[in-house]
This record gives sequence, C-alpha cells and structure tokens, in this order.
Amino acid sequence: MVDVILGLQWGDEGKGKIVDYFAPRYDIIARFQGGPNAGHTLYVNGKKVVLHQIPSGIFHEKTTNLIGNGVVLDPVTLKKECESVASFGIDYRKNLYISQRTHLILPTHRALDKASEISKGNEKIGSTLKGIGPAYMDKTGRNGLRVGDLSDKSFVTQYIKLRLKHQKLLDSLNFHEDISAWEEEFFEAVEFMRQFKVVNGEYFINERIQKGQKVLAEGAQGSMLDIDFGTFPFVTSSNTISAGVCSGLGVAPQQIKDVIGVSKAYCTRVGSGPFPTELEDATGEELRKIGNEFGATTGRPRRCGWIDLVALKFACMINGVTKIVMTKADVLDAFDELKVCTAYKVNGQKTEEVPFQMEKVTIDPLLESFPGWKSDITAIKDFKKLPKQMQQYVEYINKYLHVSIAYISNGPGREQLIENL
Ligand code: GDP
Ligand code: IMO
Ligand code: MG
Repeated sequence: MVDVILGLQWGDEGKGKIVDYFAPRYDIIARFQGGPNAGHTLYVNGKKVVLHQIPSGIFHEKTTNLIGNGVVLDPVTLKKECESVASFGIDYRKNLYISQRTHLILPTHRALDKASEISKGNEKIGSTLKGIGPAYMDKTGRNGLRVGDLSDKSFVTQYIKLRLKHQKLLDSLNFHEDISAWEEEFFEAVEFMRQFKVVNGEYFINERIQKGQKVLAEGAQGSMLDIDFGTFPFVTSSNTISAGVCSGLGVAPQQIKDVIGVSKAYCTRVGSGPFPTELEDATGEELRKIGNEFGATTGRPRRCGWIDLVALKFACMINGVTKIVMTKADVLDAFDELKVCTAYKVNGQKTEEVPFQMEKVTIDPLLESFPGWKSDITAIKDFKKLPKQMQQYVEYINKYLHVSIAYISNGPGREQLIENL
C-alpha cells in the first residue's frame, strides 16, 4: 500500500513537516521526483533542518528512506546533507537507499541551468539553478548518467563524453565561467556515494509492499509547478502530481490509497510566473513577514497572496486528493479580514477553471471576504476549540473543494497539528 503526501500549490506548503509527522506510521518514505530544488524544513529536537534530497523520514530510526528513480540527484548536495543529518547523531548509511535508475545532476547541468536563465533575460523561470531542467532534459533526451553507472568502469569516459556535449551548448549560450571547482567537488562526492546502498528500486519497493509494508511517497514542489499541469513554462521539469509516483518509484496505480494534499491557509510562490491572488501591497508584505516566507533552498522572498480555490480544486482533481492538510493557519491569526478566491475573470469572462496559458491572459481573482479570528491558535490541540471564524473558513473551503481538510497545522513544530477527522 502506498499513500502520497504532495503539495497542492506552488511548493513550500510545509510538506517536510507533515511527512515527518506521519513517518512513524509507515515503513518506507520515498522521494519520487524533483531533486535539490526542493527544501523541506523539519524541526528535530527543536533544531531546524532543511532536507533537499533525503526523504523526510530520515530522523525516525525504524524508517527506511528511498530516493526513487524519478528523482534527479546531485552527489554534491547529497554529501552536504548527509553531513548535516549526521550532526544529529543519525547514521544515514543504515536507512538510506538509492535507486540505480536515478539520474545524476552533473556540474555542467548546473552551468547549463544558469546559462539558460541568463539567456532568457526578463522571461527567466526563476529556477533554483540546481541543474534540474538540464538533468531531466538529458534523461528524456536519452543522454543522462544514472546512479547505477557510478560503479561502471567506463563512468569517467561517459562523463567526459557528456561534458563535451554540454560544453558545446554552453559555448553557444556564451557561458564561459570556470566550473573546475564544481567538478572537483563532484568527484569527491561521487567517491562519498560509494558507501550507499544502491538498489533496484522497483523490486526493492514492490517486494516490501507484497510483504505488507506501508510506503509514504513524499512529493517535492507543488501541483501548480507540474511539467504538464502547472503554469507552463514557469514550472519545474518533473511530474509533481500523484501520477508521478507510479513512474517515479515503479509502483502500480492500484497500490495508491490516500493522496494527502498539503496547502497553506493562504498562498505563496517563489520564482516567476502567474499567481492570480498575489498581493503586491502591505497585506502581502505582512503575510511574508508573519509567515517568514523566504525560500528554504535559495533564501529568496516568496510572493504571497490569498488562498486560490480555483487552483486548489484543479489540483485536487488531477491528483485525486482524498485528504487535505492545511498548514500555516496560525499565520492568519493577526488579520482582521481574510479573502478567498472562488473564481477568475479571464479576459472579462467568469470561470472556475484554470486557463491554458495563465501568463498570456488577464486574470482578475473574484474574492469572498471572511472575518479574521484575531486570536492565537498555536497551542490549540482540538478542532472544536478553534475560533468559530476559523471553523467557518475551513468549512467553506471543504464545501468548495468537495474534499475535507483533515488536519490543520498551527505552527512549525512536530506536535502542532490538529486532527479534524
Ligand atoms: P516544504 O518545501 O513544503 O517542505 O515547505 P518549506 O519547508 O519550504 O516551507 C514551509 C515553512 O513553513 C518552513 O519554514 C516550516 O518550518 C514552516 N511551517 C510548516 N508548517 C507550519 C505551520 O503550520 N505554521 C507556521 N507558522 N510555520 C509552518
Ligand atoms: P519544495 O519541494 C517552491 C520553483 C522555482 C522556479 C521553478 C523552477 O521545497 O516545495 P527549478 O529549480 O525546478 O528549475 O525551478 O520552480 N521551485 C520551487 N518553488 N518550492 C520548491 O520545492 C521548488 N522547487 C522549484 O522557484 O520558479
Ligand atoms: Mg520548500
């Protein structure tokens, strides 16, 4: 049996905290897509840690963690992350497994990411510059190198061949930065990787499912950044939605049970691209300040706005969401008035559907207003004890989406999660 936790918005919904909370109920936590563009924040013994590639179950002693074939893996980031995890007294070698089919991010992928963004000028995606796009391009272009290739005698030869190909592309983009230091780090990290358990991920996971073990697939990014269904071209390069679990781990769709969608009580986006409910005013600034909305991977300020139910309903539909976790509800504690987007006016026409090319049309969000609850909810443990205004806010969203908010997160701590089952 496989359950999924994934983001319903533009990433950074608080997936890391939620996976960490649910991890004890599962045997395996598996990442199925994305790579070091992700930044999942957890608090371990009150200390903050940000994971980029290691699944968020690593701090639970009995949990197996798998980096699936759908991920693109940067050995350099992995090495740094392992060192950070080890500083918490965790022996990452014991519980971390990597699929041999996982594609590698090379130093030249990072250079290509940077060169591509520079060449786009004002139209840049706002990529995290971790090499994600170029690495997935080499995967679909059938050129990439995989974790299983590291043990091949011809690895260095294959690397040089691909590097040459990349160099031509870099030259054509007029990119001439010296990346020799990145390469040195890369080969050190490749040596470091030899200590890991590299497995045939699809057999590894299916054998365990057959034995009755429970898997939690941990999504990265968010549904609105999905390569097919997101705000293309301002998206990431993988399928972030539940369908990505099957191809990213090698599990059949019948194995998937719960799809737990994580959404903030409001909305954020980092990087370029359409964001209909964005607030470019004092209210947006307040959301950013109270919510501490700065990227966990790049430190960039996140754009903030009201919750967008049109986009959320779309995300629930394409993912088959069975339960919602609403995070950062406490950030709304101080607001007199809250707004919720219930429809768009697209070029003057009202719709409840997400349009094809969001960036090419004018979207006016139609907003409903709700009174704020103006009280501190961070210590509340029981849904019924939440302020009436907040219960009304939640009920309204449940009705609109036809999916229930089953959990409300009211603070960054592991214990700050209210059940509403
Ligand atoms: P992820 O990428 O989806 O795992 O999310 P990030 O870690 O990038 O960003 C979420 C941020 O919100 C982190 O700093 C979390 O510690 C924090 N966070 C998560 N849940 C809550 C919550 O309910 N309330 C508050 N105030 N912060 C939260
Ligand atoms: P987590 O897992 C928020 C955004 C980038 C950029 C676009 C493409 O922490 O939620 P990429 O590096 O993939 O080429 O960037 O996607 N992006 C994220 N935004 N959270 C993330 O991950 C993101 N990963 C990528 O800002 O706009
Ligand atoms: Mg994040």
